[in-house]
Amino acid sequence: MAHIGTDWKEAARRLTMGDVVAIPTETVYGLAADIRCPDALHAIYRIKGRPQHNPLIVHCGSLEQAAQWVRSFPLSARKLAEHFWPGPLTLVLPRTDSVSDIVTAGQDTVAIRVPDHPLTLTLLQESGLALAAPSANPSNYISPVTAQQVDHMLGDRIGYILDGGRCTAGIESTIVAFDGEQPRLLRPGPIGPEAVEAVTGLSVLEKEGDALAHPGMFKKHYSPRTPLILVDDVKEAVLRDRDRRLGLLLYRHRSDLVPDADQIVLSPEGDLEEAARNLYDALHRLDAGGYSLILAEKIPGEGIARAVNDRLVKAAASYE
Ligand code: TXA
Ligand code: MG
Repeated sequence: MAHIGTDWKEAARRLTMGDVVAIPTETVYGLAADIRCPDALHAIYRIKGRPQHNPLIVHCGSLEQAAQWVRSFPLSARKLAEHFWPGPLTLVLPRTDSVSDIVTAGQDTVAIRVPDHPLTLTLLQESGLALAAPSANPSNYISPVTAQQVDHMLGDRIGYILDGGRCTAGIESTIVAFDGEQPRLLRPGPIGPEAVEAVTGLSVLEKEGDALAHPGMFKKHYSPRTPLILVDDVKEAVLRDRDRRLGLLLYRHRSDLVPDADQIVLSPEGDLEEAARNLYDALHRLDAGGYSLILAEKIPGEGIARAVNDRLVKAAASYE
């Protein structure tokens, strides 16, 4: 079983030896390996059951450290890095030859970010390591936002989990690629396209990447094992499916049609950041609740609401 601890030096020691270690970030927990250790990189794919053609995000301690792995840094990307790093923004940039094909799945670009979590940032800055880290869940399952969730899903396959408490953003980073200077949104996340436009002065293209060029954008993703349906009208859906054992994932308001224990409200105040922060924890709990169906309410609005809905649509994809 994995050790769970708060010792970043122990995590750094194991990573330097070529081990795979789970690390906290502000978005979700990552399953990390030193990008110079091919065996450890292969182990990430094996542990997750991740297809070899789905590339990994590289985590660095600073913009300067990140720049070492990048062949050219468009001005618009540099502005974004200076403004949002450390933070939940991943930039897809041309890579240098020293970035392993195992990290990039053979692509000519590398996805890179500086995460905003005190323990992991200290680890990265003090060790100078660059860490490839996908979310620390089995492929296609719900991302973890606590060390205990990582332990539950992958504890028998890794040696150490660096416990940084509960993730504060709660959903995966925004991913932006560049055609020259032109930013293109590959995955919505905590930083909305409006914020990217404000910093770059450029409008953000939102053309969906083709699924093969950007395999992580496949439709089915982030799914609980319990069937999940995304609904506009919770009352109508509950009445339609009332003979099933229902778990409800609600935005602001409880439902008086099912017992309190069978429903989770993401944010009673209607705070979208709070809803994002609570999303995966709620999905983990509902998936463990023995329900035959989860009904999830759509979240209204733009910005981070879009990122939350994107995750819910993907969680529902395999059942529609
Ligand atoms: O917040 C996050 O980004 C978390 C934490 C751990 O940093 N990581 C994360 O990693 O969500 P993962 O592997 O679950 O998602 C990475 C996404 C995948 O959809 C992958 O296809 C995409 O990034 N990606 C990685 N490298 C890419 C590249 N060179 N070009 C396009 N997409 C890339
Ligand atoms: Mg993931």
